[in-house]
Amino acid sequence: MKKVGIIGVGEYLPKKILTNADLEKMVDTSDEWIVARTGIKERHIAAKVEASSDMALQASLQALESARIKPQDLDLIIVATITPDMPLPSTACVLQNSLQAKKAFCFDVSAACAGFIYALTVAQQFIARGGCKNALVIGVEKLSSITDWKDRNTCVLFGDGAGAAVLSEVKSGGILSSYLGSDGSAGELLMVPAGGSRLPASHDTVDKRMHYVKMRGNELFKIAVVTMTHAAQIALKQAGLECKDVDLVIPHQANIRIIMAMAKKLKLCEDKIYLNIEKHGNMSSASTIIALSQAVKEGRVKKGDIILLDAFGSGLTWGACVIKW
Ligand code: COA
Repeated sequence: MKKVGIIGVGEYLPKKILTNADLEKMVDTSDEWIVARTGIKERHIAAKVEASSDMALQASLQALESARIKPQDLDLIIVATITPDMPLPSTACVLQNSLQAKKAFCFDVSAACAGFIYALTVAQQFIARGGCKNALVIGVEKLSSITDWKDRNTCVLFGDGAGAAVLSEVKSGGILSSYLGSDGSAGELLMVPAGGSRLPASHDTVDKRMHYVKMRGNELFKIAVVTMTHAAQIALKQAGLECKDVDLVIPHQANIRIIMAMAKKLKLCEDKIYLNIEKHGNMSSASTIIALSQAVKEGRVKKGDIILLDAFGSGLTWGACVIKW
């Protein structure tokens, strides 16, 4: 099996910023409540004309440049998203066309907030087994398109953005382990009820606002803490490492209180945790890869560092991944 690592990263955030003060004018909420309960102060919102593949393109170009790889050299493109441009074709195929990455085979992965870790793990397998050489893995979301801007329980939480990583064979280090899990029995805790084959779009589903995210946040919160802690422990064990060996944890950015509760359980000091939730909110599939890209640019990730990615989301799905940079 070949060693596989991330050789380039990139991210894109739409220009428009929606602050908590803006939300105060839209729903019955306050900056104090949002900051205290979630840690979020603002989030980026895509333009009306900006689709997920448009954001993915910008992040991909940056990642390809940092990896010094041309689109024509890509063998595989995986886009992790729950907000594709449209049901079909896949956003990965739309992106392939924008990039003119003609050699690549392309597909989407739907695993919500754990989406990037799922896609990363799938791409790793293809390269490790020699099925392809270079892969582009993207996490992208336009969550603003499935957010009910009249529902204060959810609309304060989400943001839009894209992150991208180029994967290839590496001589040493790379992805040391990854652990993925799912529990479909709790799927109703976080869902978009309509718009699929169960309840296709109709006047009735639109009138009932069934194309927006519905969430039972309180119940999810407790499961998220336990599951992210467990996923981190398993991935570290598989890599033959302990928490004290980790240089930087990049957790999914759903709620600062979830992250801090997990850190406490793992006995991790706060300076080992990368946070961007304050400026971006929860961007589902895009959160972990955008955070990783920003951490690299800020010099928080150095060669030889042990990085732990850890995420949890709708499905339920979860995943953790240990990388030696
Ligand atoms: N502004 C003001 N009050 C709000 C509010 C808002 N934006 N949203 C909810 N509230 C109110 C509720 O109506 C409730 O009022 P009540 O007690 O009068 O009924 C009160 O605040 C407490 O609500 P609750 O849902 O218990 O708050 P919470 O502390 O659990 O925080 C979340 C809510 C959504 C921030 C939190 O549950 C969370 O982050 N959950 C996990 C999300 C997650 O992990 N998702 C999966 C991964 S993406």
